[in-house]
Amino acid sequence: MKKVRVGVIGAYRGNQMIKYCKRAEHAELVAICDKLEGALAKQKELDEEGKITFYTDFDEFLKHDMDAVVLANYATEHAPFAIKALKAGKHVYSEVLPCQTMKEAVELIETIEETGLIYSYGENYCYMAAPYEMRKLYREGKIGEFEYGECEYIHNCENRWHSLTYGDKDHWRNNVYATFYCTHSVGPIIHITGLRPVSVVGFEGRKNERKTSGGAKTGQFGIEMIELENGGIIKSIHGDLYKNSIWYSIYGSKGRMESAREDAKLGLPATNIYVNADETPGAYGEEKIDAYLPVNDLSEVSKQYGHGGSDFYSMYNFIEKIKGDENADTIDIFEALDMFLPGMFAYRSILAGGITVEIPNLRNKEERDKWRNDTTCTDPKVAGDMLIPSFSLGNPDIPDAVYEKMAKMWDEECQGENDYVSNK
Ligand SMILES: NC(=O)c1ccc[n+]([C@@H]2O[C@H](COP(=O)([O-])OP(=O)(O)OC[C@H]3O[C@@H](n4cnc5c(N)ncnc54)[C@H](O)[C@@H]3O)[C@@H](O)[C@H]2O)c1
Repeated sequence: MKKVRVGVIGAYRGNQMIKYCKRAEHAELVAICDKLEGALAKQKELDEEGKITFYTDFDEFLKHDMDAVVLANYATEHAPFAIKALKAGKHVYSEVLPCQTMKEAVELIETIEETGLIYSYGENYCYMAAPYEMRKLYREGKIGEFEYGECEYIHNCENRWHSLTYGDKDHWRNNVYATFYCTHSVGPIIHITGLRPVSVVGFEGRKNERKTSGGAKTGQFGIEMIELENGGIIKSIHGDLYKNSIWYSIYGSKGRMESAREDAKLGLPATNIYVNADETPGAYGEEKIDAYLPVNDLSEVSKQYGHGGSDFYSMYNFIEKIKGDENADTIDIFEALDMFLPGMFAYRSILAGGITVEIPNLRNKEERDKWRNDTTCTDPKVAGDMLIPSFSLGNPDIPDAVYEKMAKMWDEECQGENDYVSNK
């Protein structure tokens, strides 16, 4: 069996995909790129067979003889890196998020169309056991047509902010708006239902002292109220509330399915599922509820990987797609944007005082021209004269001492070395 040759850029989150390629029978890891020498040093130590080539420069890395590239670089820089990789003839697996601006979204779509190569979006939460089972059951008609859904990705990173941002005031995590990182909550509902989001109203948690104390110039959490093409509604929340939660719940015309909450203590988040679907509408306590841990042929092998095994499936399907399996369950660029644009446009809603904002459908070529030059974002290097603040009330003024403290904590944790992989 010919193995797909893969290169990975970004050696922290990318470590999961590096691990996948080292173990998988259908893939082979041939190159790793990271501008941090410390991150590469760690990976070099782990390269016992000496088969991997290491790069610090992305353009040099792209010249390597390989079939596919995994982008685990900064979340705001995926689109330009994906475009370069596709133009260099490589299939692309992109970590979240797909792009930072509408201009990038249009360019990325058109590059994928021109090259004909595979673009696969790494929204791994779709493959957690419960939402993945919900997709199967929904497509079988178990709960009828989607009417309402709720999704939560609450991740309190307060205690590890220094190790995520290294005290860098320009790090993307310190500069994105509250509804930017919406994909882990919205994504699974989109993948379950296959419905396109058409409009959104956004909200931003404004009690953000616990964010600003670590250096993040943003709201505490983001909420998107999204209308789907069939009239169904999603409530999505994500951000840094005190207790973590990964949770999905959907109501259809014939029932409800949801994942178990953390507090049920049934193992990893979003693994166990409850299915409440029968012939009796309403009903308190009389209905038959199926509660179980879904398993499939790959569940056992997936357990070796992060995020409840979901890190396995997103890479497995990407490689299978490259190998020619048309049915491999990957997430293409349009579905990726259906998972991300609700967050982007929710922030436009927030900035406009909470109005309903339409979500563009870039599948329509005629809609693209309107957005082709839209560089609206929080990154001054990219936005030009379309720069927006990362907090709707204006960027908080954070003293340098906060970043110095974060940098010191990070340095102490690394004991003076940049022991990147082992410490993050
Ligand atoms: N899907 C998930 O569950 C999940 C979990 C964590 C992070 N992520 C995503 O993974 C990505 C990486 O996040 P992270 O947590 O590793 O932190 P990060 O964004 O700080 O790290 C990115 C890595 O890429 C390297 N890099 C960036 N630009 C580079 C360049 N031009 N050349 C060479 N190397 C470069 C950096 O040195 C760093 O090691 C982000 O997009 C994030 O959204 C996804």
